[in-house]
Amino acid sequence: MKRDSLLLAAIAVAVLLAVVAGVVGWAAGHYTNRVTTVGAVTTTTSVRVSPKVAAGAHAFNQFACAQCHGLNGRGGVSPDVPALTQVGKALTVSQLATIINHGLGESANPTKPYMPVWGAVISKRQVSDLVAYIRAGLPSVADATPVAVPAGQGEAVAGAALYVRDGCINCHGPNGLGGVPNPLSPDKTIPPLSGRDFREEFNTEKKITDVIRSGSVIGRAPIVSMPHWGGILSDAQLRALVAYLNTLK
Ligand code: HEC
Ligand code: HEC
Repeated sequence: MKRDSLLLAAIAVAVLLAVVAGVVGWAAGHYTNRVTTVGAVTTTTSVRVSPKVAAGAHAFNQFACAQCHGLNGRGGVSPDVPALTQVGKALTVSQLATIINHGLGESANPTKPYMPVWGAVISKRQVSDLVAYIRAGLPSVADATPVAVPAGQGEAVAGAALYVRDGCINCHGPNGLGGVPNPLSPDKTIPPLSGRDFREEFNTEKKITDVIRSGSVIGRAPIVSMPHWGGILSDAQLRALVAYLNTLK
């Protein structure tokens, strides 16, 4: 009798495990790649990515990795920024996480882009999602695309979209309100891009454009510095960003 109920229990557990595996498999299958072929036929390939890799693809756009390293990390944005297509095979999980958290040291040449320090800005979980995404070969994931920039609606509108697309919002907060912690920096937070202090110090468009272009290194990792965007953002994009910032009083 005792034997029988043990056996029944074992069967019940096995059935439950099979159901759970089925559900997980179903969920994973629902993140599929979208591939558009020439001739405007949209097909869905059989390449499947896990929810973690899909989350990494979203983070890759949210934190503007794609703006420097190219869509799907394919490069082509600037000769100073490498493609990320091979690095997933060359480096370990912990090496990749360290690069994202700590950067690679600011460039010896301050007129070039460098890999920013993200540790204080990106959560541990998102860093691990990003690493999974890079190691999976940076596949296309449905809906994980950079924010579109509206054309023909004026510089400030374009600038508002660029503020999100280029990831400024992650460090300077929505509407430039600031408040993002940077614990080891002198101010303990990343500065706001609105308010009286900002307006007094950055009182010309040129001063704002210059600091976005050149970046501003305030210390080594784990301190977060202002990335260098010269060679990444065009003059038109810089003007649009400044026009948007000027709408924030
Ligand atoms: C402002 C531009 C910029 C942004 C934004 C940026 N990177 Fe980088 N990244 C660089 C540059 C430049 C290098 C090369 C640095 C060097 O070799 O010193 C680099 C290097 C790397 C490397 C090492 C590549 C190699 O071949 O060794 C990885 C991995 C990486 N970045 C991941 C990311 C991820 C993930 C994000 C988003 C969270 C990101 N990067 C955002 C500019 C950027
Ligand atoms: C990785 C975080 C990070 C990102 C992304 C970032 N910034 Fe910054 N930014 C900083 C930090 C930190 C400072 C402070 C530098 C200093 O005190 O010298 C700063 C300073 C500035 C300043 C000067 C304000 C001041 O008080 O020093 C401007 C303007 C600015 N950023 C605009 C932008 C724009 C526009 C973008 C998007 C294209 C952007 N930032 C993206 C971290 C970031």
